[in-house]
Amino acid sequence: MITKLQQLEEEAQVELAAAQTEDAIQTVRTKYLGRKGLLTGFLRNIVSVPEEEKPLFGKRCNEAKEKLSAQIDAALARSAGGKKLASLRREAIDVTLPGRGIRAGRLHPVIRIRREICDIFTAFGFSIVEGPEIELDYYNFEALNIPKDHPARDMQDTFYVDENIVLRTHTSPVQVRVMEKIKPPVRILSPGRVYRRDSDVSHTPMFHQIEGLLVDEGVTFGDLKGILTAFLKRVFGEDTTLRFRPSFFPFTEPSAEVDIRCVICAGRGCRVCGQSGWLEILGSGMVDPAVFENVGYDSEKYTGFAFGLGLERIAMLKYGVSDLRLFFENDSRFIRQF
Ligand code: DAH
Repeated sequence: MITKLQQLEEEAQVELAAAQTEDAIQTVRTKYLGRKGLLTGFLRNIVSVPEEEKPLFGKRCNEAKEKLSAQIDAALARSAGGKKLASLRREAIDVTLPGRGIRAGRLHPVIRIRREICDIFTAFGFSIVEGPEIELDYYNFEALNIPKDHPARDMQDTFYVDENIVLRTHTSPVQVRVMEKIKPPVRILSPGRVYRRDSDVSHTPMFHQIEGLLVDEGVTFGDLKGILTAFLKRVFGEDTTLRFRPSFFPFTEPSAEVDIRCVICAGRGCRVCGQSGWLEILGSGMVDPAVFENVGYDSEKYTGFAFGLGLERIAMLKYGVSDLRLFFENDSRFIRQF
């Protein structure tokens, strides 16, 4: 019987050694040590063992069970350890890989310029105000002394909502809205979107302007020149050369356009400045008395100046952007450069 027990033990050893998975090891345990297991039941053979060998046989039976049980536990532990190791290997983090980093957003160049200009004029004592983008014909045109037959009213340029309502074509109507509300002195700056029926390489149906207005007693063209010169030197650099060129706007008299020396060719003449050496930067002038009359200001007592400029244009010149459309594509690779 003891020899049979030894055989059984050897078979169990071989099967355990061959068991690769946890399941296979458990199968060995059930087969030999389970409730109806081969080793479990082997003690019953004690009946056919001679009396004097019975104690030894019983002892060997128990030893065999204990030994196998311990070996199975060890095998299970090894297999669990192996599993753990494999999963650790699988989930290992390569700490030498370069990090991905957080992509921070950037301000759009038009917003940057808008903030910069607003900061400059705030320092000059101007307040920032905004007006509606959907505007009455009256404010956009009529009150600004743009008569019904003026070319700027042509359907070509203006988006009409209905007969009396337009998408504002410039920020100038904010001048009128402000003057209707407050008495001089007035010092305001008004940034915002404007709309025109225009679309080609250098025109988009929506773009941004900033309007400025200063009204008080005794304001002269010299004040206009002084403030606009100080402003443009701050934006384009202290050594920027400017010129004030006579022009016409229905709401200012006299009117002037301000040019700066071409930032691309320094005045020698290039494609950007149309060989003239100058870049047109803004429109300006002394507020036309007719506009003052429309808002109930005494044009004998008060004078003032106004100006308007396009933000995309300034951003293009200041940052050297050659295509207007880049501002509207929202390609983060473009915006990230500023
Ligand atoms: N509103 C004009 C435009 O859109 C720009 C302008 C010119 C505004 C002269 C002014 C000004 O305030 O005085 O072209």
